[in-house]
Amino acid sequence: FNVPDPVNEPVLNYGPRSVERAALKAALDEARAQQIDIPMYIGGQEVRTGKTLEVRPPHDHKHVLGTYHEGDASHVHASIEAALGAKEQWENMPWEQRAAIFLKAADLLAGPYRAKINAATMLGQSKNAYQAEIDAACEFIDFLRFNVHFMTQIYAEQPVSGKGIWNRLEQRPLEGFVFAITPFNFTAIAGNLCAAPALMGNVVVWKPAPTQIYAANVIMEVFIEAGLPAGVINMISVDGPVAGDIIFSHPDFAGLHFTGSTHVFQNLWKTIGNNIHLYRTYPRIVGETGGKDFVLAHPSADADVVNVALIRGAFEYQGQKCSAASRAYIPQSLWPAVKEKLQRDIAGIKVGPVEDFENFVNAVITEASFDRLAKYIDEAKANPEVEIITGGSYDKSVGYFVEPTIIQVQDPYYVTMCEELFGPVLTVYVYEDSQFEEVMNIIDKTSPYALTGSILSQDRYAITQATQRLRNAAGNFYVNDKPTGAVVGQQPFGGARGSGTNDKAGSMLNLLRWTSPRTIKETF
Ligand code: SER
Repeated sequence: FNVPDPVNEPVLNYGPRSVERAALKAALDEARAQQIDIPMYIGGQEVRTGKTLEVRPPHDHKHVLGTYHEGDASHVHASIEAALGAKEQWENMPWEQRAAIFLKAADLLAGPYRAKINAATMLGQSKNAYQAEIDAACEFIDFLRFNVHFMTQIYAEQPVSGKGIWNRLEQRPLEGFVFAITPFNFTAIAGNLCAAPALMGNVVVWKPAPTQIYAANVIMEVFIEAGLPAGVINMISVDGPVAGDIIFSHPDFAGLHFTGSTHVFQNLWKTIGNNIHLYRTYPRIVGETGGKDFVLAHPSADADVVNVALIRGAFEYQGQKCSAASRAYIPQSLWPAVKEKLQRDIAGIKVGPVEDFENFVNAVITEASFDRLAKYIDEAKANPEVEIITGGSYDKSVGYFVEPTIIQVQDPYYVTMCEELFGPVLTVYVYEDSQFEEVMNIIDKTSPYALTGSILSQDRYAITQATQRLRNAAGNFYVNDKPTGAVVGQQPFGGARGSGTNDKAGSMLNLLRWTSPRTIKETF
């Protein structure tokens, strides 16, 4: 299996006066000057229904970036038919040809499409240049390249044979189509939720989040330019329940690749369970859902490390990563130093639109999200037992801006310690130094999620203790680092409990879910 060794795509830096920044600014200007009309992509055709909805930047909600076309039940049926129609040719294509298409897509993203997909992610999802670069460029490219590498490892894994006997495993795609439901917060996740099953020979019906449709359209352009045959990935914009009713009662529904809310995922799973008798095969269900990710500082921790882990972990991309630090447990002895550093550094954080490269925090994704966050902040302000340490302001007159806000609580089970907020709001509980073990028990039982978490400590025994005690509290556990920013091929990503099926995006484990092996025994 001679495939290029995967290497993580280097992160470009977009410094002032760099050629990268100039190219990105040009792409932003070009995107803003146009009003693109985003179709659905069904069976290689661009489908426009005339029932259009607008796309607006969350940080500038009066500006219209373009429109997209909403489909109905007929488009769901058409996308399933297109996928099933493309299936035989796609799955019989030599794996090298499938791999070549996705490796080509990676190269297009690394080169000619880099500025375009970053600009689309910046404008459509309100990500600053760095956050777009590590997502829409680097992580997406890494997924595509590492998937090919993992696929060949899977194909290479063969059973033992004996004299006169040749045993082999044939990796077949699933018998049917895969439904990909993708989130707003990572362009890379949207792309990978389609690309991973497709690389393994599956055909896909894809429903991107309406709030990510602007960059989703660029993903389709890249796949098409890379040579993806018609019908292999079909992108539809159809109301969730309408699409779900048709897809989850179709006999050829064979897999769900999902990233989104726990509530939605659980409902989809129930629907699939109720319809299980309808399917030709047991569907594969792969989902990454919520998180309530923690940072635990031990009294031995370095205050600067705590400060950086909290600021970057909680406020990069406005806390809208499923991995974002949203609850912190800081020992009393360390708190005055940490608090001072947090207040000093957060005072210097710029909040505003993505077009100004100085802005570290941009807008949250929707008005609904903004209103929900404002409500939590107002409740905190009204509660005498809760103190706002930083931020606390919000303004939606131009964009959905929420200041990086830190809430200090006395009750470790205060509502913002428990519920997933998905915004730039961090809650801190200060514990007595002697209570380190108790605080680990609290962390473990505070939330139903188990996605990411960090232990910050210079004490080896405390690190070992936390690593063991919090074994089931996070699928990605970080020692002396923020709990965000998993890199494909380096930190396979995913959580268990209420956070998902833990099939580790960007790893062999995930790709294994999209293949249904046949064992062949041949005797001579
Ligand atoms: N993979 C991202 C991170 O680790 C979250 O989806 O931050």
